[in-house]
Amino acid sequence: MKGLILSGGKGTRLYPLTYTLAKQLVPLANKPVLVRVIETIRDAGVTDIGIVVGDPTADEIMHRIGNGDAFGVKLTYIKQPSPDGLAHAVKISEPFLGDDRFVMFLGDNCIEGGIHTLIRDFADSAWNSQIVLKAVENPRSYGVADLREDGSIRRLIEKPQDPPSNLALVGIYMFDSTIFEAVNAIRPSKRGEYEITDAIQWLIDHKRSVFPYVHGGWWYDTGKPIDMLEANAAVLDELRPDIAPDAEIVNSEVDKRVTIQAGARIINSTIRGPAIIGEHTVIEDSYVGPFTSIYHHVTIKNCEIERSIVLEETSISDLPARLHESLIGRKVTLTRNNTKPNAYKMNLGDNSVVRVD
Ligand code: DAU
Repeated sequence: MKGLILSGGKGTRLYPLTYTLAKQLVPLANKPVLVRVIETIRDAGVTDIGIVVGDPTADEIMHRIGNGDAFGVKLTYIKQPSPDGLAHAVKISEPFLGDDRFVMFLGDNCIEGGIHTLIRDFADSAWNSQIVLKAVENPRSYGVADLREDGSIRRLIEKPQDPPSNLALVGIYMFDSTIFEAVNAIRPSKRGEYEITDAIQWLIDHKRSVFPYVHGGWWYDTGKPIDMLEANAAVLDELRPDIAPDAEIVNSEVDKRVTIQAGARIINSTIRGPAIIGEHTVIEDSYVGPFTSIYHHVTIKNCEIERSIVLEETSISDLPARLHESLIGRKVTLTRNNTKPNAYKMNLGDNSVVRVD
């Protein structure tokens, strides 16, 4: 089997973070979502993996992820000229995939419990495709499956106004080479994309065998800030805590479920897990609450923060209220204005969201 990860697209729903950062590189518990996807596929025994990338994020992804040696896999990058849809990404990957059966994983998805059983079941079967479904509260945001009484698929619809069920298509799909007939046969959808949902519907209409698996654990599509925070909480909850030997903890209370990475310093502070403090980050006179990930080279001084993600090289100090459910980008400075007039001073990028009391 081969692997195919889709990591192109624009990530508009995570603006402003993704003006400058590929959404697949935003970290969950201090590890980029894309790295988690590579490791999930590798842990299921698949090590020959193609990654579809597109401008403007292709170079950054290739630079940060490399040739796969760091993860024990072989990576081949496939450049998609424009984000014309998931089925289009499959179409341009045919030279890499050839006749092999493959697992396709969306580079912004994160799933509990790995995919080794799914891969084994599909590899041992004669099915043309296997899809993964998950019951969700907001099916309108996803591809949705309508199943018959016997569990077989009647119909798949992309982001329906009037969903026939609450079963969303998870961004993990398994195919054999018949998918190329389908992606070459379908037409673009109303939103102008070649939809993988329509390609799988084509397989069903042409009597190919598509097997649905309903996933019981958690699953997140990290396309929106709130999903990112939820996914971060779920991953932190599973993380085995670890304190790096050279981390410095001085006059502080650090809970059992906290990971502190190399070179971090915690001074006169309280950290309640599950939480992670990144490499060479300094937390001083502060409170870091549950479900918080602070990435590397961050400084947090005289602040309270919880259920948040802070990216690298950011500095947060002297805030008068607790930061909650916040997603803060790279190299941000967030501090109190101590000079008169008493006013807010902001230098925010497009699409930033700030809520003040
Ligand atoms: O997350 C599950 C959902 O993913 C499914 O329920 C939907 O049926 C499926 O269409 C997809 O919907 P999204 O609207 O969330 O897809 P998105 O545009 O976010 O793209 C998913 C990943 O694929 C993301 O990592 C970007 C990448 N991508 C996307 C497009 C449109 C590409 O590599 N090339 C593309 O052309």
